[in-house]
Amino acid sequence: MANDIQFRRPRIGPYISRFRNHWAWNAKSLLTPRQALHDRVHGKVVLLTGASSGIGEGVAEKLADAGATLLLVARNAEKLEAIASKIKKRGGKACIYPGDLTDLEECDRICQQALADHGRVDILINNAGRSIRRSIKFTVNRFHDYERTMQLNYFAALRLAVNLLPGMEARDEGHIINVSTVGVQANPARFSAYLGSKWALEGWTWVAANEYAHTNLRFSSINYPLVRTPMIAPTKIYDYLPVMSPETAVNWLLDVVITQNKRKLGIFGKGALAMYYLLPKTSESIVNLSYQSLFETPPADYVSRKDRFAGDDGIADRDNDRKVAPFRARENKHRA
Ligand SMILES: NC(=O)c1ccc[n+]([C@@H]2O[C@H](COP(=O)([O-])OP(=O)(O)OC[C@H]3O[C@@H](n4cnc5c(N)ncnc54)[C@H](OP(=O)(O)O)[C@@H]3O)[C@@H](O)[C@H]2O)c1
Repeated sequence: MANDIQFRRPRIGPYISRFRNHWAWNAKSLLTPRQALHDRVHGKVVLLTGASSGIGEGVAEKLADAGATLLLVARNAEKLEAIASKIKKRGGKACIYPGDLTDLEECDRICQQALADHGRVDILINNAGRSIRRSIKFTVNRFHDYERTMQLNYFAALRLAVNLLPGMEARDEGHIINVSTVGVQANPARFSAYLGSKWALEGWTWVAANEYAHTNLRFSSINYPLVRTPMIAPTKIYDYLPVMSPETAVNWLLDVVITQNKRKLGIFGKGALAMYYLLPKTSESIVNLSYQSLFETPPADYVSRKDRFAGDDGIADRDNDRKVAPFRARENKHRA
């Protein structure tokens, strides 16, 4: 029957107050950021993942100083405990919820415990993240690279969100902030696993924002450039690049908490986005040039695969060949 299509009268009013509030909070964040943060979070309950290190650690302290109750989530209970006691010594409120978010039942347990302890969560900050830097060709027999990044960066974030959304809907108030990367705009080489998961997270964020636009629930994404935290420490070349300080990164996140803007993106991200749409081939060539110029050590299991499938010369990787060969020659000389 054709009568299964039904229409409802949409609510337009919330768009107007939202538009007014948007400008007011943005002005407040610019002119009196400390006061604005206090006004926004005082008395609120904030569940923050990835709170034991880097950006999360700094954000936890600032939000607690502004009067929020912090629910700190990460695997390392000792580190969380140290941060919570630092917050409490300064007169703030913080509780720890240690757990491995790659286990989705652990996500459920953390949310249930948080709701039982505090009755509600007003702001969810999905900040815990895992990055993997590896060329696609080196991941062909490492499918788990894709699974590991999706599990933490996408599924865990979603699992927390779907646990907390019903309460937010019932109160018609809530803010979910998903931490992403400028890689989503710039598409740098070697980050296919990481960026796939962050693209997925952003996709969910924008659909949620559209579906809840007539309510007081807000959804935001932050596209960080490289930030000097333990996450980038293993990649030595980043030691020589000018990257964002953790303090600036914390301020970016606080700005999103205050303004509830949908996206936080710096000038580099905006440039990369413009380039991607206006000059797609040039953008591709620039990224590819940097990709080709940097040598990458293949993972150990890639070598075994290469031996299995390569011809008599033992070389299956033409790109790496011209760089690997001289190293091999040198090694052999030393052995001799
Ligand atoms: N640093 C950058 O250059 C950069 C750039 C763009 C975007 N970002 C994003 O910014 C966010 C914060 O990163 P960061 O730079 O502050 O990195 P970080 O210092 O390495 O912190 C990562 C946090 O995630 C937690 N975590 C990792 N695996 C977890 C798991 N399985 N379960 C629960 N918690 C887990 C870690 O705590 P435990 O180890 O105690 O579990 C830690 O608190 C991430 O989403 C990242 O993708 C970072």
